[in-house]
Order: sequence, then C-alpha cells, then structure tokens
Amino acid sequence: MSEKLQAIRGMHDVLPDAIVRWQAVEAVLRTVTAAYGYHEIRLPIVEQTALFKRSIGEVTDIVEKEMYTFEDRNGDSLTLRPEGTAGCVRAALEHGLLHHQQQKFWYLGPMFRHERPQKGRYRQFYQFGVEAYGFEGFDIDLELILLSRRLWCQLGLNGRLRLELNSLGTTEERAQYREALVTYFKGHLDQLDADSLRRLETNPLRILDSKNPDLDAVIAGAPRLSDALGEASSAQFSALTHALDEHGIEYTVNPRLVRGLDYYSQTVFEWVTEALGSQGTVCAGGRYDGLLQQLGGRSGAAIGFALGMERLVDLLGERPDLEEAARPDIYLVAVSPPAERQAMRLAEQLRDRFPCLRLEMNLGGGSFKTQFRRADRCGAAYALVIGETEASSGEVGLKALRGAEDQRTLSAAALDEFITQYLNTMVRT
Ligand code: HAM
Repeated sequence: MSEKLQAIRGMHDVLPDAIVRWQAVEAVLRTVTAAYGYHEIRLPIVEQTALFKRSIGEVTDIVEKEMYTFEDRNGDSLTLRPEGTAGCVRAALEHGLLHHQQQKFWYLGPMFRHERPQKGRYRQFYQFGVEAYGFEGFDIDLELILLSRRLWCQLGLNGRLRLELNSLGTTEERAQYREALVTYFKGHLDQLDADSLRRLETNPLRILDSKNPDLDAVIAGAPRLSDALGEASSAQFSALTHALDEHGIEYTVNPRLVRGLDYYSQTVFEWVTEALGSQGTVCAGGRYDGLLQQLGGRSGAAIGFALGMERLVDLLGERPDLEEAARPDIYLVAVSPPAERQAMRLAEQLRDRFPCLRLEMNLGGGSFKTQFRRADRCGAAYALVIGETEASSGEVGLKALRGAEDQRTLSAAALDEFITQYLNTMVRT
C-alpha cells in the first residue's frame, strides 16, 4: 500500500474555521500600518543563499542549522526565506528605492526555518513585518513601538503583551564588548554548558540569551553592554526611553536581549507574553543601520519588526463573534427542477443587486429535509425557499434559521426590501 500523504512536519494548514481570525488580524494590520504611512511590498519566497548568509550572519542558528537550502536546476544555491528583512533590503537596493529617500514598507507571508516543531514554533510560519529606511533619529523607533501598541489595542490584546528593550550600540561598541565578554566567560568556563562553549567561539553575545537557568548566575555577573555604550548610543537610547515614558508605554530594559540575527545595532525590542508557553515572543525587531551597506548599498538608517502570525492569532483566542460574522446570510432551498432553475436565476440576480450578500445556493438537489439540514449546518441566518407553489407564483418563502419565527411568503419587491434592511444592520467591507 502506498504511504499516506501528509503535510510536512512543522508545516500546517490553516482551515476555514481558523481563517476568520487570521483575516480579522490581517485587516487590523493593514489598517493600522496604512495609518502610519506604510506600503505593501511583495517579495519572493526564494532568494540566493548568499543573501541570508551575508545579512543574518554565518554563525547564527538560522544560517547554521535552520535554512531550507537547495540547489536549483542551474546549480545555484537557493534558500527558502527564513525571514523578510534581508529580502526587503535586497529589493529596495535593487530597485533604487533608497537613494536619498525615506521609505516605509510592510509585508506578510510565509517564512521557513528548520526548527524543532512545537506549539508556536513551526517550520513554515507567517510573519507580518514592517521596515522603515532613511530615518536617522529615535523618533522612528518610538513610532514603530507606538504602531505596535496600537495593533495590540485594536486587536483587544491591551495589556497582554510586555515590551522589552535593549540597545546593542554601534558595531564598534559591540565588537569591544564582545572582547570583554569573551575574557569574562573564559574565566568561568566550568560554569558554561556545551551550547555556550560553542557560542563563546562563534557568537558570544548569544550566551546572554541562553534559556538554561543554570547559567543565570554566571550571566548576571557578566559585563553589561549598557556600560560599553558610547555617549551617542546612550543618549539615543535614553531619548527613546524618555519618549516611551511620555507616551505612557511600559517597558523593561533587558540587558540580555541580544536577538538571534547579526544585523542589529542600537535599539532592539520584543513584545512578549507568558500566555503562550515557551514561544512567547510575538513581535520582535530593531535597528539594522549597517545592513544596507553590507548588502552593497550606501550607508543608511534602517529599522523594523516582524510579528509571528500564528502566535498572534493564538493569543487572540477563540472568537465566536468572528466565526459568526463569516457565516452565510442566506441558504437558497429549491425542491423541484423548475424551482431549481428559478432559484439559480434568483441567486444570480440577488448577487448582482447585493454584492455583499453571502448567499449559498443548494446544489445537488435533495429533499426539503436534506436541504434544510445543509442550511442549518452552514450556519446561515435565513433560508429562502422556492417550492412548487412559489415557482409558479414568483414569490419566495423566507424562514429564519435561528429563532422560532414562522416561514413568511414574500414578493420579489418585499424580498428586496428585506435584504436591504438586513444588510444595513451589518458592517461589511
Ligand atoms: P525573529 O525574531 O527571528 O526576527 O522573528 C520575528 C517573529 O517571528 C518572532 O518573534 C516570532 O513571533 C515569529 N517566529 C520566528 N520563528 C518562528 C517559528 N519557527 N514559528 C513561529 N513563529 C516564529 C526576524 O525575523 C526579523 N526579520 C524581524 C525584523 C524585521 N527585524 C527588523 N525588521
């Protein structure tokens, strides 16, 4: 027997029951980012492998262990994008969008990382990201955080996400700090785990990010990046924290927040929750001013964040109101062949006349009983009924499917009036 075909581990289907919550989230993301002047950009899912190596960094978990990399038929090394920032910079440079210009982009789409799958961590997952170019000052850092807070408010997630911040300083400051950190950890080798010993050689800042509680004490004693920041970096970071205070945004400065991608400098931040278990980072980002030059452009300011759609949708929880709103308005029941023909014509007329109406026509015949069962199952608010009498009189029966109202008979004009009024009570875009 042939093997049963299944989705790839860590890659999941989003079924229609869940999609209503995704769409509700997407609608908020689009509206809010438009309100801050961001424009959508659509980027390829596959890029040259070198793009990710040069941006995310050769010695990061993503590049070392998690990329879906393959040779295409020409022998070129390609990679399924593990994130959107690198491709966004590549596209902006390629199309000359960054010459003395400020730009604000957003994107939404699947990303791929070969991580160990668990709740909230997938091998194909969706990110919504925003990236802003050409803004030097801390005001864009502030605006991005305000934008993200507005997203949470509009999604009814007020107070459910906590903001953590840090400053990584400039590339030079970080290089000096890296040395200090290596010296310190080399004096405490016996307290490090295997992972950290490896990172000590490759990416020592990532030791600070370790989730192993046995390392807490040695990490607590490590030199602090904040002490290694120069005057300009410190001033920029405190300007940002003051501004956040002014806007009443609560945050924690987390000196261990270093992020898993190499391109960051200065401000980095994450919105986290305890409600999702171990995969609690819903949204993360920061400045990456150095990346434009690194990928062949002129030097320039860059900042952005990306949020994990699965995690955000999960945090939203069950939303029967959204499921309810996605159900059909009308199920059209027709029992004899002439009634079916008339019903199909009526369905098309109603769709012409009311483009927002959600009308489901019974297909494939069936008795009254069967058709009403289907009508109930699809969750429609009303059944429109064309039986033999209605087929000859040109009228229709109308029956509310929830509640105990009796079936009424309506003329074509009365039906029109009824649907107009019904749709007036709906907010439908
Ligand atoms: P990141 O921290 O790697 O940053 O990912 C951002 C978010 O994507 C995470 O906070 C999480 O919600 C979601 N995410 C990441 N990996 C997975 C996974 N395996 N399964 C489910 N969700 C996941 C970036 O990707 C940067 N490009 C963000 C950025 C944009 N920085 C500047 N601009």
